[in-house]
Amino acid sequence: MLSDSFERQIDYLRISITDRCNYRCLYCMPANGIEPKPRHQLLSYEETLTIVELFVKLGLSRFRITGGEPLIRKGLVELIGAISQIKGVADLALTTNGTLLARYARALKGAGLKRINISLDSLNPQKYYEITRGGNIHEVLAGIDAALDLGFSPIKLNTVVIRGINDDELIDFVRFASAKPLEIRFIEFMPLGKEGIWSPEKFIPGKEIRARITREIPINPITDTRIKGGGPAEYYQIKGSPGTIGFITSLTENICQRCNRVRLTADGYLRTCLLADREYDVKALIREGASEEEILSFIRDAIRQKPQGRCFNLDQPQISRSPMSAIGG
Ligand code: GTP
Ligand code: 5AD
Ligand code: SF4
Repeated sequence: MLSDSFERQIDYLRISITDRCNYRCLYCMPANGIEPKPRHQLLSYEETLTIVELFVKLGLSRFRITGGEPLIRKGLVELIGAISQIKGVADLALTTNGTLLARYARALKGAGLKRINISLDSLNPQKYYEITRGGNIHEVLAGIDAALDLGFSPIKLNTVVIRGINDDELIDFVRFASAKPLEIRFIEFMPLGKEGIWSPEKFIPGKEIRARITREIPINPITDTRIKGGGPAEYYQIKGSPGTIGFITSLTENICQRCNRVRLTADGYLRTCLLADREYDVKALIREGASEEEILSFIRDAIRQKPQGRCFNLDQPQISRSPMSAIGG
């Protein structure tokens, strides 16, 4: 098992496979998008597989594919198939905006994908269209249904809560999710990116989200670590229902002390913390033909330097070398 210098066990790699997206969500991308990196700067699938194999050798067993929108890159099903064949890969998940899921869910399941997280920031078609700048909610709802029909479990819905935009829908979200085997997670809006719309007025702390929900729907904290899953979310059980609700409180709680993950950007850099801009150029080593031992020790050293955690600067959005869409959340 790989640990960092703060004795956190690192067992989870998030792999962004593209910086492109078919949406331009208000909180993630500027309206006219972000200049995508030329293809040769992205890791090829072959290089990605090599890196996954190296991480498995280091003791990581859980992998998540993110983007941009991962389903717009050709060959994702084959990549998932190849990763799931690697001995030592215990968990393989996908984070998607869901638009193309109805088309690919069956093939993804067949290829060995275990779990899916889907972004859903409004249940109102017009508002959904506005938040995503052009998205069609019916495609996503069809994607969610396809994932449910195929028995993916868990299926998590990610909702970034923004005051004045979707905070009037909290109860609707809980009712929508608890009527089906879906886990809804409310995410504090993080001040990331150059042209984001983040402002203190739009931010709602997790405590307030929770209080507004509990006024109508009673919930109990879940302490079972198997259900909690070791990620950034804290989970609650809806009383008298199998449904659970998660809260990801990156700004108001110190979630860094239980951080179990590192990231691989679409252009092949290892990023040991979402908020720390120091990135480690694994792609260059691979392309230079470095030996396996050299790359392994490079990764080990990088993880040893994983920062303890970073506070958000609420006066000034966090601007990183890579936009959120290339880091993958
Ligand atoms: P599970 O493995 O299912 O728990 O997924 P996850 O929550 O790790 O992944 P997902 O891609 O669904 O991300 C949900 C939200 O958590 C997004 O807003 C991410 O930006 C945020 N998130 C994921 N990892 C981190 C992290 O290390 N730090 C912070 N601050 N936020 C994170
Ligand atoms: N704050 C919180 N979550 C964000 N995501 C994207 N940008 C932000 C932000 N500024 C989320 C998306 C997606 C996940 C990968 O990251 O909603 O579910
Ligand atoms: Fe695309 Fe996800 Fe960013 Fe929205 S949040 S623009 S769906 S990458």
